[in-house]
Amino acid sequence: VLKPRGVVEQLPAYHPPLSGRQGLRCDFNENAAGCSPRVLKKLRSLDAEDLARYPEREPVEAVLADHFDLRPEEVLLTNGVDEAIHLLCETFLSEGDEVLIPVPTFAMYELFAAATGAVVKKVQAGPQFEFPMRELARQVSPRTRLIAIANPNNPTGAVARAEDLLALADAAPDAALLVDEAYYEFYGATLFKESRRRPNLFVARTFSKAYGLAGLRAGILAGSTEALAAVRRVASPYSVNNVALACLPQALVDQAFVTNYADQICAQRERLQMQLAAWKVRFCPSQANFVLFEVGEAHARFVDAMRARRVLVRDRSRDPGCSGCVRATLGLPHQTDQLIAAMAEVFIELGLVPPGVTP
Ligand SMILES: Cc1ncc(COP(=O)(O)O)c(C=O)c1O
Repeated sequence: VLKPRGVVEQLPAYHPPLSGRQGLRCDFNENAAGCSPRVLKKLRSLDAEDLARYPEREPVEAVLADHFDLRPEEVLLTNGVDEAIHLLCETFLSEGDEVLIPVPTFAMYELFAAATGAVVKKVQAGPQFEFPMRELARQVSPRTRLIAIANPNNPTGAVARAEDLLALADAAPDAALLVDEAYYEFYGATLFKESRRRPNLFVARTFSKAYGLAGLRAGILAGSTEALAAVRRVASPYSVNNVALACLPQALVDQAFVTNYADQICAQRERLQMQLAAWKVRFCPSQANFVLFEVGEAHARFVDAMRARRVLVRDRSRDPGCSGCVRATLGLPHQTDQLIAAMAEVFIELGLVPPGVTP
């Protein structure tokens, strides 16, 4: 049999539960309302010529740069943030280099980093999932070449302070620091513009969450001109397809759609958190479009019982420090009604709500 590289053989398989997703999708932090109608209109106008041509990324990078008040050289359009992570690993990591990742977090950092043969050092967040700044700074060594941080973090929704992230970039000048702002629109604080001033800071954004385009696969990596020039060397010129390139300017121009959606989600997040508090269910206060809460030993039964009610939530119990935890993505008000109603039934069914608390 054909043998893969040793480090590839050792990689844990990552199989997100993508099949059988009929019902209310509170499991992948997607947009529950779809995308802007302007995107759909553009999509329907595409023709054979649009598919026959090889994609040209630069004009759309210029549109993005203009929107974000950056120079085109400071913006790389990618096939989702996933590709941005992959490219950073390819650009900066060699076998034996060190990568720092605060955990729990998004799985792809470790996967792409480990695939290069780099040594992944995981740093556990605090008991309330606080950003482990002190321990991260302590773990920086001359071999550290990449630090990957989701802010807000997934699956916790917790955030790191901008000054901590910038201090970390300064403390590790030989490492690329990725600040992954996939959930920026539900939070509001950003280091996007800082990336042009710091040679080792990269900031990623995605169209998969607030913009409702996870199926289109588009993300943005911002960085200094010099640093991004290196990343471009390992990137395929065609990884973002023509359909995405045609639609992205329409998605971007409809900021009213994005702002309106994010406002609704933040209100529903507040509502779910208040409901969890009333149920005396522990949760991590979130700045993203989901909430992580503690179900305890019954986590798997909880997820199954929710699925039986056609509401999909995600068991995160195996994430480091997340024993017994489940994550639910927020949707529009009527979808949150459905989520909360199903949760209330399931908490009663599993005997999990303390006496005297009426769900
Ligand atoms: C922190 C974080 N980064 C990136 C992604 C993936 O983004 P994309 O769809 O742009 O690849 C996710 C998706 O869950 C995420 O949680």
